[in-house]
Amino acid sequence: MARILIVDDQDSARTLLSEMLLAEGYEVDQAPGGESACTMVASNGYDLVITDLRMGEVGGLEVLRRTRETSPLTEVIVMTAFGTIEDAVEAIRFGARDFVQKPFVEDELLIKVARAARTRQLQGELRAAASDFRERYNFGNIIGQSAEIRDVLGRIVRIAPTDATVLITGESGTGKELVARAIHANSLRAERPFVSINCAALTETLLESELFGHVRGSFTGAVQTRKGLFEEANGGTFFFDEIAETPPSLQAKLLRAIQEGEIRRLGDNKPINVDARIIAATNQNLRLLIEEKRFREDLYYRLNVARFELPPLRERKEDIPPIVDAFLEKYGKKMGRKASLGPGVLEYLTGYDFPGNIRELENLIEQGVALAQDGQVHLSDMVPNSNGKNSGLQPGHQSLVHLVREVERDAIVRALRQVEGNKERAAELLGLSPTTLWRKMKRLRLEWP
Ligand SMILES: Nc1ncnc2c1ncn2[C@@H]1O[C@H](COP(=O)(O)OP(=O)(O)OP(=O)(O)O)[C@@H](O)[C@H]1O
Ligand SMILES: [Mg+2]
Repeated sequence: MARILIVDDQDSARTLLSEMLLAEGYEVDQAPGGESACTMVASNGYDLVITDLRMGEVGGLEVLRRTRETSPLTEVIVMTAFGTIEDAVEAIRFGARDFVQKPFVEDELLIKVARAARTRQLQGELRAAASDFRERYNFGNIIGQSAEIRDVLGRIVRIAPTDATVLITGESGTGKELVARAIHANSLRAERPFVSINCAALTETLLESELFGHVRGSFTGAVQTRKGLFEEANGGTFFFDEIAETPPSLQAKLLRAIQEGEIRRLGDNKPINVDARIIAATNQNLRLLIEEKRFREDLYYRLNVARFELPPLRERKEDIPPIVDAFLEKYGKKMGRKASLGPGVLEYLTGYDFPGNIRELENLIEQGVALAQDGQVHLSDMVPNSNGKNSGLQPGHQSLVHLVREVERDAIVRALRQVEGNKERAAELLGLSPTTLWRKMKRLRLEWP
């Protein structure tokens, strides 16, 4: 139940109100004047302060102002005598939640109190959720001591509080999503939603309806009107993952949405305003895609306001030891066992190229901890699992998955060459459906102009 402070220099009014609220189950304190009220708020917090406006030395407006300062989450309701509504209006302007007129009607008062208490509670929950989010995505989770990573952290601090659009590029597994969430968590929008969409995971129509929503009947299967994800992000941050995968027709709509802060649901002409901060990520070279006319240049410039280029792990090997330590601890805790690196393992890791970057390192450590015997992760427990081009591995260390992928890649490339890049015919040659071929190429990050 909410904790409430009643402030009034009139004893009888205070007692009456106090009894009403106690009967409802609230926890109630009383202050006979503005000065004592301010002290009590500063030391006890309160969910709600109900204060008279006209009191001796320190009036209700001053109580309101100081409550805002010392206990910003506390809600304030002001009481005002009949005929002095202007004062109440002013108090609302200064941040009071509501006002009641004296002599008050009990029902009306209780409803207003309940509403303010609920608001306070919701805010508390939002805060808790936000601080939980912040804890998970604070800088402490972006580990590294290299100049590159320190530069990234410094720029997150500077760019997060602005509403600037951010483009994050980097190879797979370099931490693009982690950085996107850290930017949100450290922005003024932290208590509002972080909504993300993976542009590669959906077909064109579905992607559009996911993004912008649709009205009933706008396409086969649209049985109900639905709000899009973009709208859900209102007030918060929208994260476009794998932005390069957006089909060209949708890129134009995206550009308009970002530029004008306005969307239209599929099958509807009515514009809807959306205020969302945009962060986009890709592991592809957008400049190249622009040259190939597969990505709109204007969209690129619109996104590329603040740019984060995350370097591959192999170019900042000094980050490997601290990241390894963090993952050893993380998975040690998770699996309830302590493990450290056995002889030669760190040397092996720092000598390895990590085509899958930090995600690959994380998987290796997770697996290592799971397999660890007598508290040590041995070299034989390290089975790299990425589709490693540039891999610095000895063949003996390659996993089956890895080898299969290499073989697949080879076969696809050979088939494509043979039919001069015609994907339908290549699929036929390989005994696959065109979609399966497309999916495999995507998974192998194999591009064929
Ligand atoms: N500097 C870092 N410190 C600690 N963990 C990191 C760091 N960078 C990335 N990670 C972890 O590595 C994993 C991969 O990161 P993330 O998903 O952000 O990569 P990504 O760039 O989005 O990859 P992809 O392009 O494949 O989607 C995550 O579990 C993330 O928490
Ligand atoms: Mg990602």
